[in-house]
Amino acid sequence: MNAYEIPPNPTKLDDLRLVERPNPTPGPYQVVVRLRAAALNYRDHAILTGKYHTGVDHPAIPCSDGAGEIVAIGANVARFKVGDRVIPTFFQVWIDGIPPKNRGALGLPLDGTLTEYICLHEDGLVAMPPSLSFEEAATLPCAALTAWSALMTLGTRVKPGDTVLVLGTGGVSMFALQFANAAGARVIVTSSSDEKIQRARKMGAFAGVNYKTYPDWQKEILTLTRGRGVDCVIETGGIGTLARSFECVGWEGKIALIGVLAGREGSVNPHDLMFKRASLQGIGVGSRTGLEQLIQALEINQLRPLVDKVFPFDQALDAFRLQASGNFMGKIAITI
Ligand SMILES: NC(=O)c1ccc[n+]([C@@H]2O[C@H](COP(=O)([O-])OP(=O)(O)OC[C@H]3O[C@@H](n4cnc5c(N)ncnc54)[C@H](OP(=O)(O)O)[C@@H]3O)[C@@H](O)[C@H]2O)c1
Repeated sequence: MNAYEIPPNPTKLDDLRLVERPNPTPGPYQVVVRLRAAALNYRDHAILTGKYHTGVDHPAIPCSDGAGEIVAIGANVARFKVGDRVIPTFFQVWIDGIPPKNRGALGLPLDGTLTEYICLHEDGLVAMPPSLSFEEAATLPCAALTAWSALMTLGTRVKPGDTVLVLGTGGVSMFALQFANAAGARVIVTSSSDEKIQRARKMGAFAGVNYKTYPDWQKEILTLTRGRGVDCVIETGGIGTLARSFECVGWEGKIALIGVLAGREGSVNPHDLMFKRASLQGIGVGSRTGLEQLIQALEINQLRPLVDKVFPFDQALDAFRLQASGNFMGKIAITI
């Protein structure tokens, strides 16, 4: 089969290489999926450029996200049959509740989805929503589930009438915009681009603040909420944006700590949270049950993932280049 590989200790996008590997055969509880699409996350770019918090110590197939059709099943497989359209879960395998210690993520440490075939335990897959294309469905395992966990599963749930702040217009944030709107909340986005803010408003955002034009964007958020602050922050920036999020979160609000886009190192003072009785909630993607729940929410609300651009398999490197440039909104997919 054809697959992309990252060598040990990668440092740059050009380290990505196309290789041939033997086709997998399933064990008794495994299925083989002919992947039809993969999708990129910030994490995949960080792994390939050596900026991820764990290193690569073996030739690894990148990407956690994909969708495809089952082409072979092991003798004891009960959940799926040949021909079923499926999406692998980010963690292999975390079904529900507290995550098991031995779970591994696709794309590192486990081989990922930028390949023609993948062999997985039958518990590490969910049925693909019939309303979506392979490219759309491929975007769900990491970014959509992270947004879902942040809004709906961990800490106080977002409810109608809440205001949700999403930082930037990448994958996690655009899914959060769609889910929060569907839940009856209003959404404010921040972005480096006025044009992206306009697009986000067309998708249903109530307002947007350009964080380049307004470096003290938290003040604009307080103005937009008449001083009340927001009920939930989708904190994709991390240490570089947290202090501002502390300032503009409202009474008993939740800051869902997700990303590292604005840096990994530094110090922040959580004092603001104390008297506002606000909370800081760590997020780590989510379980298979969460993925199934969000798929149901997508279908019932007839939502489609925002796929900015689709690349053919042989141009996967260009997809990584676009991810690195930041000149996209939502998700980037690759047809396999
Ligand atoms: N904890 C978890 O479970 C989990 C799961 C998934 C992702 N993550 C993390 O969440 C973050 C977002 O992931 P993603 O895949 O959604 O990223 P992405 O799709 O690559 O998002 C990129 C966008 O983020 C925005 N951005 C960049 N720097 C920013 C900054 N300093 N402040 C605010 N926005 C900024 C930019 O939007 P504009 O061009 O509009 O400014 C950029 O286009 C990453 O740090 C990722 O590692 C964590």
